[in-house]
Amino acid sequence: MKNSIAICPGSFDPVTYGHLDIITRASSMFDKVIVVVAGNSSKHCSFTPEERVAMIKKCISDLPNVEVDHYGGLLADYAAQRGATAIIKGLRAMSDFEYEFQMALTNKKLNPNVETLFLTTAAQNMYLSSSMVKQIASMGGDISSFVPDVIRQDIADRIQRK
Ligand code: PNS
Repeated sequence: MKNSIAICPGSFDPVTYGHLDIITRASSMFDKVIVVVAGNSSKHCSFTPEERVAMIKKCISDLPNVEVDHYGGLLADYAAQRGATAIIKGLRAMSDFEYEFQMALTNKKLNPNVETLFLTTAAQNMYLSSSMVKQIASMGGDISSFVPDVIRQDIADRIQRK
């Protein structure tokens, strides 16, 4: 598809190697990928949207067709505004499935022009989550296997300030 645009939405609180794998793979499938830090009313986030955007930007500087943004409204509206035809999500285990399926169907109802596509998470990231990363960091553990070096200090600074 020419000039194809996909969005990769999430809380990214903070971004992990699991998210970055999905973003990288999406960037090879679409002309442009917009990573969007979106609001999730069922989560209390540790980082502001601006901080999350800044951390993602530091991690994707090698991907020229990837842009990073944040949005406080409905994802279906954001996709329409940006002309995106796909929403890309990573699926880890079956535990993700019901929630993701519900969101995909709801977004399709709200914006019939956008398809949700699921990429299978790489095996080494199956267990990885942002909340685990924060928990390990808060207990002084080593998070170097879960997040890139360029954002390790940002995470440590925030967790220690809490
Ligand atoms: O990383 P997460 O927390 O699983 O991502 C969930 C997210 C942010 C993609 C979802 O909550 C979302 O799309 N939020 C934007 C508001 C919205 O459109 N809500 C209706 C979704 S069906």
